[in-house]
Amino acid sequence: MKQSIITALDIGSSNVRCIIAKEIGEGRLEILGIGESPSEGIECGIVKDIQALSGCVAKAISTAENDAKIAATNIYCNITGDHIRTQIGDGRISIPSEIPNEPGEITQEHTEQVINDAKNSVKIQKGLERCRILHGIPHHFIIDNQDDIHNPVNMNGFHLIARVYTILAELTPLRNLNKCIQLAGYDIDPENFVLNHIAVAESILSEDERRLGALVLDIGGGTCDLSIFNRGTLEKILVIPMAGKNITEDLAIGLKTTLGNAEYIKIEYGNALANSVDQTEEIDVEGISGRASSRKTRYLVSNVIQHRVEEMLSLCYTKAKDYYTPELVTSGIILCGGTAKMKNLDIVLSESFNLNVKTATPDLSRLNGMISRLEDPAFATVIGILYYASGKNTEPVTKGFALPNIKSTKIVDKIKKILRDFT
Ligand SMILES: Nc1ncnc2c1ncn2[C@@H]1O[C@H](COP(=O)(O)OP(=O)(O)OP(=O)(O)O)[C@@H](O)[C@H]1O
Ligand SMILES: [Mg+2]
Repeated sequence: MKQSIITALDIGSSNVRCIIAKEIGEGRLEILGIGESPSEGIECGIVKDIQALSGCVAKAISTAENDAKIAATNIYCNITGDHIRTQIGDGRISIPSEIPNEPGEITQEHTEQVINDAKNSVKIQKGLERCRILHGIPHHFIIDNQDDIHNPVNMNGFHLIARVYTILAELTPLRNLNKCIQLAGYDIDPENFVLNHIAVAESILSEDERRLGALVLDIGGGTCDLSIFNRGTLEKILVIPMAGKNITEDLAIGLKTTLGNAEYIKIEYGNALANSVDQTEEIDVEGISGRASSRKTRYLVSNVIQHRVEEMLSLCYTKAKDYYTPELVTSGIILCGGTAKMKNLDIVLSESFNLNVKTATPDLSRLNGMISRLEDPAFATVIGILYYASGKNTEPVTKGFALPNIKSTKIVDKIKKILRDFT
Protein backbone atom coordinates (compact mmCIF):
# COMPACT_ATOMS: atom_id res chain seq x y z
CA MET A 1 0.00 0.00 0.00
CA LYS A 2 1.49 3.34 -1.06
CA GLN A 3 -0.26 5.87 1.16
CA SER A 4 -2.64 5.24 3.98
CA ILE A 5 -4.39 8.63 4.28
CA ILE A 6 -6.87 9.54 1.55
CA THR A 7 -8.70 12.85 1.21
CA ALA A 8 -11.78 12.58 -1.00
CA LEU A 9 -13.07 15.89 -2.32
CA ASP A 10 -16.42 16.20 -4.13
CA ILE A 11 -16.71 19.64 -5.72
CA GLY A 12 -20.35 19.90 -6.78
CA SER A 13 -22.55 22.71 -8.10
CA SER A 14 -24.50 22.82 -4.83
CA ASN A 15 -22.14 21.40 -2.22
CA VAL A 16 -18.46 20.75 -1.60
CA ARG A 17 -17.90 17.61 0.50
CA CYS A 18 -14.66 16.32 1.94
CA ILE A 19 -13.80 13.13 3.78
CA ILE A 20 -10.42 12.29 5.29
CA ALA A 21 -9.96 8.57 5.84
CA LYS A 22 -7.25 6.10 6.72
CA GLU A 23 -6.73 2.76 5.00
CA ILE A 24 -6.71 0.04 7.64
CA GLY A 25 -6.11 -3.00 5.42
CA GLU A 26 -8.20 -5.55 3.52
CA GLY A 27 -9.96 -2.79 1.59
CA ARG A 28 -11.36 -1.18 4.75
CA LEU A 29 -11.17 2.52 5.63
CA GLU A 30 -11.61 4.42 8.86
CA ILE A 31 -13.44 7.74 8.52
CA LEU A 32 -11.45 10.39 10.43
CA GLY A 33 -13.12 13.63 9.40
CA ILE A 34 -16.03 14.97 7.35
CA GLY A 35 -16.46 18.53 6.05
CA GLU A 36 -19.18 20.19 3.99
CA SER A 37 -19.76 23.64 2.56
CA PRO A 38 -22.41 25.06 0.26
CA SER A 39 -20.83 25.57 -3.13
CA GLU A 40 -20.43 28.82 -5.04
CA GLY A 41 -18.66 29.65 -8.28
CA ILE A 42 -19.07 26.40 -10.21
CA GLU A 43 -21.82 25.54 -12.69
CA CYS A 44 -22.18 22.24 -14.49
CA GLY A 45 -18.57 21.31 -13.74
CA ILE A 46 -17.09 24.61 -15.00
CA VAL A 47 -15.42 27.04 -12.59
CA LYS A 48 -17.18 30.41 -12.91
CA ASP A 49 -15.68 32.25 -9.93
CA ILE A 50 -12.39 30.78 -8.74
CA GLN A 51 -12.14 32.99 -5.61
CA ALA A 52 -15.61 32.06 -4.39
CA LEU A 53 -15.15 28.36 -5.13
CA SER A 54 -11.71 28.14 -3.52
CA GLY A 55 -13.23 29.65 -0.34
CA CYS A 56 -15.85 26.87 -0.28
CA VAL A 57 -13.21 24.19 -0.94
CA ALA A 58 -11.04 25.60 1.88
CA LYS A 59 -14.01 25.56 4.25
CA ALA A 60 -15.00 21.94 3.48
CA ILE A 61 -11.41 20.66 3.74
CA SER A 62 -10.55 22.58 6.90
CA THR A 63 -13.76 21.37 8.60
CA ALA A 64 -12.72 17.78 7.78
CA GLU A 65 -9.18 18.50 9.02
CA ASN A 66 -10.43 19.89 12.35
CA ASP A 67 -12.66 16.85 12.72
CA ALA A 68 -9.85 14.42 11.84
CA LYS A 69 -7.15 16.38 13.70
CA ILE A 70 -4.76 15.73 10.83
CA ALA A 71 -3.85 17.58 7.63
CA ALA A 72 -5.58 16.68 4.37
CA THR A 73 -3.08 14.87 2.15
CA ASN A 74 -3.30 12.64 -0.93
CA ILE A 75 -6.32 14.52 -2.30
CA TYR A 76 -8.54 12.92 -4.95
CA CYS A 77 -11.23 15.04 -6.62
CA ASN A 78 -14.14 14.42 -9.01
CA ILE A 79 -14.70 16.12 -12.35
CA THR A 80 -17.70 16.26 -14.66
CA GLY A 81 -19.30 18.59 -17.21
CA ASP A 82 -20.07 19.06 -20.86
CA HIS A 83 -16.35 19.18 -21.65
CA ILE A 84 -15.84 15.46 -20.96
CA ARG A 85 -15.04 13.54 -24.17
CA THR A 86 -15.01 9.79 -24.79
CA GLN A 87 -13.45 7.67 -27.52
CA ILE A 88 -13.27 3.97 -28.22
CA GLY A 89 -9.95 2.91 -29.74
CA ASP A 90 -7.56 0.00 -30.08
CA GLY A 91 -4.05 -0.41 -28.72
CA ARG A 92 -1.71 -2.98 -30.30
CA ILE A 93 1.57 -4.53 -29.23
CA SER A 94 3.65 -7.57 -30.21
CA ILE A 95 4.46 -10.03 -27.46
CA PRO A 96 8.16 -10.94 -27.38
CA SER A 97 9.15 -14.59 -27.16
CA GLU A 98 12.51 -16.25 -26.47
CA ILE A 99 11.77 -19.06 -28.95
CA PRO A 100 11.24 -18.02 -32.61
CA ASN A 101 7.72 -18.65 -33.97
CA GLU A 102 6.39 -19.49 -30.51
CA PRO A 103 3.78 -17.21 -28.87
CA GLY A 104 5.13 -15.23 -25.90
CA GLU A 105 3.55 -15.02 -22.44
CA ILE A 106 1.47 -11.90 -21.73
CA THR A 107 2.35 -10.16 -18.46
CA GLN A 108 0.61 -7.45 -16.42
CA GLU A 109 3.12 -4.97 -17.90
CA HIS A 110 2.09 -5.95 -21.45
CA THR A 111 -1.53 -5.32 -20.53
CA GLU A 112 -0.71 -1.87 -19.19
CA GLN A 113 1.42 -1.18 -22.27
CA VAL A 114 -1.37 -2.09 -24.72
CA ILE A 115 -3.90 0.03 -22.81
CA ASN A 116 -1.44 2.95 -22.90
CA ASP A 117 -0.99 2.42 -26.63
CA ALA A 118 -4.77 2.77 -27.09
CA LYS A 119 -4.83 5.89 -24.91
CA ASN A 120 -1.94 7.45 -26.83
CA SER A 121 -3.62 6.79 -30.17
CA VAL A 122 -6.68 8.67 -28.91
CA LYS A 123 -4.59 11.56 -27.62
CA ILE A 124 -3.18 12.42 -31.07
CA GLN A 125 -6.61 12.54 -32.73
CA LYS A 126 -7.69 15.84 -34.16
CA GLY A 127 -9.74 17.93 -31.76
CA LEU A 128 -8.42 16.14 -28.68
CA GLU A 129 -5.01 17.83 -28.45
CA ARG A 130 -6.22 20.14 -25.70
CA CYS A 131 -7.64 17.34 -23.58
CA ARG A 132 -6.12 15.26 -20.83
CA ILE A 133 -6.82 11.54 -20.47
CA LEU A 134 -8.57 10.76 -17.21
CA HIS A 135 -9.22 7.03 -17.64
CA GLY A 136 -8.59 4.22 -20.11
CA ILE A 137 -11.09 1.46 -19.45
CA PRO A 138 -10.32 -1.83 -21.20
CA HIS A 139 -13.48 -3.27 -22.71
CA HIS A 140 -11.95 -6.51 -23.97
CA PHE A 141 -8.74 -7.87 -25.47
CA ILE A 142 -7.90 -9.73 -28.67
CA ILE A 143 -5.00 -12.21 -28.76
CA ASP A 144 -4.07 -12.92 -32.40
CA ASN A 145 -7.46 -13.98 -33.82
CA GLN A 146 -9.12 -14.80 -30.50
CA ASP A 147 -11.67 -12.09 -29.69
CA ASP A 148 -13.42 -11.13 -26.47
CA ILE A 149 -10.66 -12.05 -23.99
CA HIS A 150 -11.40 -10.59 -20.57
CA ASN A 151 -8.04 -10.86 -18.88
CA PRO A 152 -5.04 -11.79 -21.04
CA VAL A 153 -2.46 -11.97 -18.24
CA ASN A 154 -0.53 -15.32 -18.31
CA MET A 155 -2.02 -16.25 -21.70
CA ASN A 156 0.21 -16.71 -24.76
CA GLY A 157 0.09 -14.96 -28.12
CA PHE A 158 2.02 -13.15 -30.84
CA HIS A 159 -0.02 -9.94 -30.82
CA LEU A 160 -2.22 -8.31 -28.20
CA ILE A 161 -4.96 -5.79 -28.97
CA ALA A 162 -6.96 -3.91 -26.32
CA ARG A 163 -10.25 -2.21 -27.08
CA VAL A 164 -10.28 0.74 -24.69
CA TYR A 165 -12.93 3.25 -23.69
CA THR A 166 -10.90 6.41 -23.11
CA ILE A 167 -12.31 9.30 -21.12
CA LEU A 168 -10.81 12.77 -21.52
CA ALA A 169 -11.38 16.17 -19.96
CA GLU A 170 -10.62 19.49 -21.62
CA LEU A 171 -7.44 21.01 -20.21
CA THR A 172 -8.86 24.44 -19.33
CA PRO A 173 -11.64 23.33 -16.93
CA LEU A 174 -9.30 20.74 -15.44
CA ARG A 175 -6.52 23.28 -14.82
CA ASN A 176 -8.98 25.76 -13.30
CA LEU A 177 -10.29 23.13 -10.90
CA ASN A 178 -6.72 22.25 -9.97
CA LYS A 179 -5.89 25.93 -9.47
CA CYS A 180 -8.94 26.37 -7.28
CA ILE A 181 -7.69 23.62 -4.94
CA GLN A 182 -4.25 25.30 -4.89
CA LEU A 183 -5.81 28.69 -4.10
CA ALA A 184 -7.57 27.00 -1.18
CA GLY A 185 -4.08 26.10 0.09
CA TYR A 186 -3.84 22.43 -0.95
CA ASP A 187 -2.04 20.36 -3.59
CA ILE A 188 -3.48 17.71 -5.84
CA ASP A 189 -1.61 15.38 -8.17
CA PRO A 190 -3.12 15.91 -11.68
CA GLU A 191 -3.44 12.09 -11.89
CA ASN A 192 -5.86 12.17 -8.96
CA PHE A 193 -8.88 13.58 -10.81
CA VAL A 194 -11.64 11.03 -11.25
CA LEU A 195 -14.67 11.20 -13.48
CA ASN A 196 -17.79 11.70 -11.34
CA HIS A 197 -19.54 8.74 -13.01
CA ILE A 198 -16.72 6.35 -12.13
CA ALA A 199 -16.63 7.51 -8.52
CA VAL A 200 -20.39 7.18 -8.03
CA ALA A 201 -20.44 3.64 -9.43
CA GLU A 202 -17.74 2.63 -6.93
CA SER A 203 -20.04 3.38 -4.01
CA ILE A 204 -23.51 2.40 -5.20
CA LEU A 205 -23.18 -0.33 -7.82
CA SER A 206 -22.82 -3.96 -6.74
CA GLU A 207 -20.82 -6.51 -8.75
CA ASP A 208 -24.10 -8.23 -9.71
CA GLU A 209 -25.65 -4.99 -10.95
CA ARG A 210 -22.50 -4.25 -12.96
CA ARG A 211 -22.57 -7.69 -14.54
CA LEU A 212 -26.28 -7.75 -15.30
CA GLY A 213 -26.27 -4.25 -16.74
CA ALA A 214 -27.50 -1.02 -15.14
CA LEU A 215 -28.05 2.67 -15.71
CA VAL A 216 -26.57 4.82 -12.95
CA LEU A 217 -28.02 8.29 -12.60
CA ASP A 218 -26.56 10.91 -10.24
CA ILE A 219 -28.86 13.94 -10.11
CA GLY A 220 -27.15 16.73 -8.21
CA GLY A 221 -27.61 20.48 -8.30
CA GLY A 222 -26.13 21.27 -11.73
CA THR A 223 -25.90 18.06 -13.77
CA CYS A 224 -27.45 14.66 -14.31
CA ASP A 225 -24.51 12.27 -14.69
CA LEU A 226 -25.66 9.10 -16.45
CA SER A 227 -23.60 5.94 -16.96
CA ILE A 228 -24.45 2.74 -18.78
CA PHE A 229 -22.91 -0.49 -17.50
CA ASN A 230 -23.10 -3.72 -19.42
CA ARG A 231 -21.28 -7.05 -18.85
CA GLY A 232 -19.37 -5.55 -15.95
CA THR A 233 -17.95 -2.68 -17.97
CA LEU A 234 -18.72 1.01 -18.23
CA GLU A 235 -19.93 1.37 -21.83
CA LYS A 236 -21.13 4.96 -22.05
CA ILE A 237 -21.19 8.14 -20.02
CA LEU A 238 -23.44 11.15 -20.56
CA VAL A 239 -23.63 14.54 -18.86
CA ILE A 240 -26.95 16.40 -18.98
CA PRO A 241 -26.59 20.02 -17.82
CA MET A 242 -29.88 20.27 -15.91
CA ALA A 243 -30.64 19.24 -12.31
CA GLY A 244 -31.90 20.38 -8.89
CA LYS A 245 -30.94 24.05 -9.28
CA ASN A 246 -33.22 24.33 -12.31
CA ILE A 247 -36.14 23.05 -10.23
CA THR A 248 -35.37 25.68 -7.59
CA GLU A 249 -35.16 28.46 -10.20
CA ASP A 250 -38.50 27.40 -11.74
CA LEU A 251 -40.09 27.52 -8.30
CA ALA A 252 -38.65 30.98 -7.58
CA ILE A 253 -40.14 32.27 -10.86
CA GLY A 254 -43.43 30.37 -10.57
CA LEU A 255 -44.05 31.33 -6.94
CA LYS A 256 -42.48 34.83 -7.19
CA THR A 257 -40.14 34.23 -4.30
CA THR A 258 -36.41 34.28 -3.53
CA LEU A 259 -34.09 31.42 -4.54
CA GLY A 260 -33.50 30.72 -0.83
CA ASN A 261 -37.21 30.38 -0.10
CA ALA A 262 -37.79 28.37 -3.28
CA GLU A 263 -35.06 25.94 -2.16
CA TYR A 264 -36.69 25.67 1.29
CA ILE A 265 -40.13 25.01 -0.22
CA LYS A 266 -38.69 22.43 -2.64
CA ILE A 267 -37.04 20.44 0.14
CA GLU A 268 -39.84 20.82 2.69
CA TYR A 269 -42.91 20.39 0.45
CA GLY A 270 -41.57 19.18 -2.92
CA ASN A 271 -43.19 16.27 -4.72
CA ALA A 272 -42.53 15.21 -8.30
CA LEU A 273 -46.07 13.81 -8.73
CA ALA A 274 -48.63 16.61 -8.51
CA ASN A 275 -51.54 14.20 -8.35
CA SER A 276 -50.24 12.65 -5.14
CA VAL A 277 -50.54 15.85 -3.05
CA ASP A 278 -53.59 17.35 -1.34
CA GLN A 279 -54.89 19.86 -3.91
CA THR A 280 -56.29 22.27 -1.31
CA GLU A 281 -53.38 22.46 1.15
CA GLU A 282 -51.74 25.90 1.14
CA ILE A 283 -48.29 27.07 2.21
CA ASP A 284 -46.78 30.50 2.96
CA VAL A 285 -44.53 31.90 0.27
CA GLU A 286 -42.18 34.78 1.16
CA GLY A 287 -42.24 37.80 -1.17
CA ILE A 288 -39.11 39.13 -2.88
CA SER A 289 -37.16 41.95 -1.11
CA GLY A 290 -39.77 42.86 1.48
CA ARG A 291 -42.83 42.38 -0.75
CA ALA A 292 -45.88 40.86 0.94
CA SER A 293 -45.92 37.09 1.33
CA SER A 294 -48.65 35.04 -0.33
CA ARG A 295 -50.42 31.70 0.03
CA LYS A 296 -49.94 29.09 -2.70
CA THR A 297 -51.19 25.52 -2.96
CA ARG A 298 -48.85 22.55 -2.67
CA TYR A 299 -50.50 21.36 -5.86
CA LEU A 300 -49.08 24.37 -7.74
CA VAL A 301 -45.64 23.76 -6.19
CA SER A 302 -45.72 20.12 -7.30
CA ASN A 303 -46.95 21.01 -10.78
CA VAL A 304 -43.96 23.30 -11.31
CA ILE A 305 -41.62 20.59 -10.00
CA GLN A 306 -43.20 17.79 -12.05
CA HIS A 307 -42.95 19.84 -15.22
CA ARG A 308 -39.20 20.40 -14.80
CA VAL A 309 -38.53 16.83 -13.59
CA GLU A 310 -40.29 15.41 -16.66
CA GLU A 311 -38.33 17.71 -18.98
CA MET A 312 -35.03 16.80 -17.31
CA LEU A 313 -35.69 13.06 -17.37
CA SER A 314 -36.94 13.10 -20.93
CA LEU A 315 -33.68 14.83 -21.92
CA CYS A 316 -31.77 12.07 -20.12
CA TYR A 317 -33.82 9.41 -21.92
CA THR A 318 -33.40 11.01 -25.36
CA LYS A 319 -29.63 11.18 -24.91
CA ALA A 320 -29.31 7.65 -23.52
CA LYS A 321 -31.79 5.57 -25.50
CA ASP A 322 -29.51 4.73 -28.42
CA TYR A 323 -26.80 3.33 -26.18
CA TYR A 324 -28.62 0.51 -24.39
CA THR A 325 -31.36 -2.05 -24.86
CA PRO A 326 -33.79 -2.40 -21.95
CA GLU A 327 -33.25 -6.18 -21.92
CA LEU A 328 -29.56 -5.73 -21.21
CA VAL A 329 -29.87 -3.31 -18.31
CA THR A 330 -31.43 -6.02 -16.18
CA SER A 331 -30.70 -4.22 -12.90
CA GLY A 332 -32.65 -1.16 -14.04
CA ILE A 333 -31.73 2.33 -12.86
CA ILE A 334 -29.73 3.07 -9.74
CA LEU A 335 -30.41 6.64 -8.64
CA CYS A 336 -28.36 8.88 -6.33
CA GLY A 337 -27.38 12.53 -5.74
CA GLY A 338 -29.20 15.13 -3.63
CA THR A 339 -32.14 15.46 -6.05
CA ALA A 340 -32.79 11.71 -5.69
CA LYS A 341 -34.36 12.67 -2.34
CA MET A 342 -37.23 14.48 -4.12
CA LYS A 343 -40.44 12.62 -3.25
CA ASN A 344 -41.77 10.42 -6.09
CA LEU A 345 -38.99 11.37 -8.49
CA ASP A 346 -38.19 7.65 -8.70
CA ILE A 347 -41.73 6.99 -9.98
CA VAL A 348 -41.47 9.64 -12.72
CA LEU A 349 -38.04 8.25 -13.63
CA SER A 350 -39.33 4.70 -13.81
CA GLU A 351 -42.12 5.84 -16.15
CA SER A 352 -39.76 7.91 -18.33
CA PHE A 353 -37.40 4.97 -18.97
CA ASN A 354 -39.86 2.11 -18.45
CA LEU A 355 -37.32 0.49 -16.12
CA ASN A 356 -37.35 -0.24 -12.40
CA VAL A 357 -35.57 2.29 -10.18
CA LYS A 358 -33.63 1.85 -6.94
CA THR A 359 -32.70 4.96 -4.94
CA ALA A 360 -29.28 4.14 -3.53
CA THR A 361 -27.30 5.29 -0.54
CA PRO A 362 -23.55 4.59 -0.68
CA ASP A 363 -22.27 1.20 0.45
CA LEU A 364 -20.83 1.84 3.91
CA SER A 365 -19.87 -1.77 4.66
CA ARG A 366 -16.15 -1.08 4.10
CA LEU A 367 -16.08 1.86 6.51
CA ASN A 368 -15.36 2.20 10.23
CA GLY A 369 -15.99 5.28 12.38
CA MET A 370 -18.70 7.95 12.27
CA ILE A 371 -20.65 6.72 9.27
CA SER A 372 -24.36 7.24 10.05
CA ARG A 373 -24.29 10.75 8.51
CA LEU A 374 -23.05 9.25 5.24
CA GLU A 375 -26.19 7.18 4.69
CA ASP A 376 -27.49 9.63 2.11
CA PRO A 377 -27.70 9.48 -1.73
CA ALA A 378 -25.92 12.86 -1.83
CA PHE A 379 -22.78 11.26 -0.30
CA ALA A 380 -22.45 8.68 -3.10
CA THR A 381 -19.79 10.67 -4.97
CA VAL A 382 -17.46 11.50 -2.07
CA ILE A 383 -17.55 7.91 -0.75
CA GLY A 384 -17.02 6.65 -4.31
CA ILE A 385 -13.93 8.88 -4.66
CA LEU A 386 -12.60 7.32 -1.45
CA TYR A 387 -13.12 3.77 -2.77
CA TYR A 388 -11.66 4.67 -6.16
CA ALA A 389 -8.53 6.11 -4.52
CA SER A 390 -8.17 3.14 -2.22
CA GLY A 391 -8.59 0.71 -5.16
CA LYS A 392 -6.04 2.60 -7.24
CA ASN A 393 -3.40 1.88 -4.61
CA THR A 394 -3.97 -1.86 -4.70
CA GLU A 395 -5.75 -3.22 -7.78
CA PRO A 396 -4.22 -4.33 -11.10
CA VAL A 397 -5.37 -2.47 -14.20
CA THR A 398 -7.66 -5.21 -15.58
CA LYS A 399 -9.52 -5.77 -12.28
CA GLY A 400 -13.26 -5.52 -12.70
CA PHE A 401 -13.28 -6.26 -16.40
CA ALA A 402 -12.72 -10.01 -16.34
CA LEU A 403 -16.37 -10.95 -16.30
CA PRO A 404 -18.29 -13.64 -18.13
CA ASN A 405 -19.51 -12.78 -21.58
CA ILE A 406 -23.29 -12.80 -21.92
CA LYS A 407 -23.46 -10.75 -25.09
CA SER A 408 -23.21 -12.99 -28.08
CA THR A 409 -25.56 -11.60 -30.71
CA LYS A 410 -27.50 -14.86 -30.90
CA ILE A 411 -28.19 -14.92 -27.16
CA VAL A 412 -29.23 -11.27 -27.18
CA ASP A 413 -31.65 -11.90 -30.05
CA LYS A 414 -33.05 -14.92 -28.21
CA ILE A 415 -33.57 -12.95 -24.99
CA LYS A 416 -35.25 -10.15 -26.94
CA LYS A 417 -37.58 -12.65 -28.63
CA ILE A 418 -38.56 -14.26 -25.32
CA LEU A 419 -39.27 -10.81 -23.85
CA ARG A 420 -41.31 -9.79 -26.90
CA ASP A 421 -43.35 -12.97 -26.63
CA PHE A 422 -44.10 -12.22 -23.00
CA THR A 423 -45.16 -8.61 -23.51
N1 LIG B 1 -35.01 16.46 0.14
C1 LIG B 1 -34.71 16.98 -1.05
N2 LIG B 1 -35.66 17.06 -2.01
C2 LIG B 1 -35.39 17.58 -3.21
N3 LIG B 1 -34.18 18.04 -3.60
C3 LIG B 1 -33.19 17.98 -2.68
C4 LIG B 1 -33.39 17.45 -1.37
N4 LIG B 1 -32.22 17.52 -0.71
C5 LIG B 1 -31.31 18.07 -1.56
N5 LIG B 1 -31.90 18.35 -2.74
C6 LIG B 1 -31.29 18.99 -3.92
O1 LIG B 1 -30.12 18.28 -4.28
C7 LIG B 1 -29.24 19.16 -4.98
C8 LIG B 1 -27.85 18.97 -4.45
O2 LIG B 1 -27.46 17.65 -4.64
P1 LIG B 1 -25.92 17.25 -4.57
O3 LIG B 1 -25.37 17.65 -3.27
O4 LIG B 1 -25.83 15.82 -4.97
O5 LIG B 1 -25.37 18.20 -5.72
P2 LIG B 1 -23.89 18.53 -6.15
O6 LIG B 1 -23.08 17.29 -6.07
O7 LIG B 1 -23.39 19.70 -5.40
O8 LIG B 1 -24.13 18.97 -7.67
P3 LIG B 1 -23.58 18.39 -9.06
O9 LIG B 1 -23.20 16.95 -8.82
O10 LIG B 1 -24.71 18.52 -10.01
O11 LIG B 1 -22.43 19.25 -9.42
C9 LIG B 1 -29.74 20.56 -4.76
O12 LIG B 1 -30.35 21.07 -5.94
C10 LIG B 1 -30.77 20.38 -3.64
O13 LIG B 1 -31.81 21.31 -3.75
MG1 LIG C 1 -22.53 15.77 -7.37
